[in-house]
Amino acid sequence: MDLGIAGRKAIVCASSKGLGRACARALAEAGCALVLNGRDKEVLSRTATELRQATGVEIHEVPGDLDNPATRTELIAACPDADILVNNNGGPPHQAFGEITRETVLKGIESNMLTPIALVQALAPGMVERKFGRIINITSSSVRAPIAGLDVSSGARAGLTAFLASAARLFARDNVTINSIQPGSFDTDRAIAGLSRAAAQRGVSVDAARTDAKARIPAGRFGDPAEFGALCAFLASAHAGFITGQNILIDGGGFPGAF
Ligand SMILES: NC(=O)c1ccc[n+]([C@@H]2O[C@H](COP(=O)([O-])OP(=O)(O)OC[C@H]3O[C@@H](n4cnc5c(N)ncnc54)[C@H](OP(=O)(O)O)[C@@H]3O)[C@@H](O)[C@H]2O)c1
Repeated sequence: MDLGIAGRKAIVCASSKGLGRACARALAEAGCALVLNGRDKEVLSRTATELRQATGVEIHEVPGDLDNPATRTELIAACPDADILVNNNGGPPHQAFGEITRETVLKGIESNMLTPIALVQALAPGMVERKFGRIINITSSSVRAPIAGLDVSSGARAGLTAFLASAARLFARDNVTINSIQPGSFDTDRAIAGLSRAAAQRGVSVDAARTDAKARIPAGRFGDPAEFGALCAFLASAHAGFITGQNILIDGGGFPGAF
């Protein structure tokens, strides 16, 4: 399928690795020019080089911490007329409920709610004016079904979801959509770190923890980041203008509900 977005410009936040990188790759394959971001300059540069070589699209690198307003200003300056914004960021650390502090809650809200909202506020008015915009937020399946230890993540991302629900309807008439993708378990560095922690807690090997985790997913496997990227590119496509304000689970059947 031709996604109809060749030549469009996309800012993909936190995109040097994992799910963000996979979204960047799928958008580049669809012909979008990209602005990529991540804190580690070398990793970012490696990813940008790989994507340039694989797809030939124009790629601008903005290294830096997204939670720093100066990084966000630089991202916006690199592409003030972005057609597509993929909001992604690092996730809050796993933390037992009793260990959560006001500071960790504030940090989670900053990273996973306030930062994406600030980018939407900066970029959506231009999209509305140009009558095309696609905003995709990477949230989590934990917004829909709790995961113990990820309370800060779930709460901050649920806040983002509810906050943007009204804006999604406000901008719909101007062909600007806002949707979230809720990942279950995907094979990324973050997921591997989670497995190592679970293995240490249970006193089993990482391989055993991996086998158990896969067995709990109806699909019997973790998601491939490329599958995530393909969904993101579709939501960013010319064909997805009638989908807005939605939260799309991609979890191999992990969520145990009919709806
Ligand atoms: N993978 C899963 O199964 C899964 C499931 C549910 C939710 N999620 C959520 O989805 C998001 C992406 O996860 P992932 O698995 O792709 O993680 P990942 O493999 O660890 O990749 C995270 C990416 O974000 C960048 N990053 C992290 N903090 C940043 C910051 N403050 N400013 C700029 N860039 C930053 C990282 O680069 P640097 O470290 O160099 O900055 C890296 O490129 C996270 O919020 C995660 O909690 C993931």
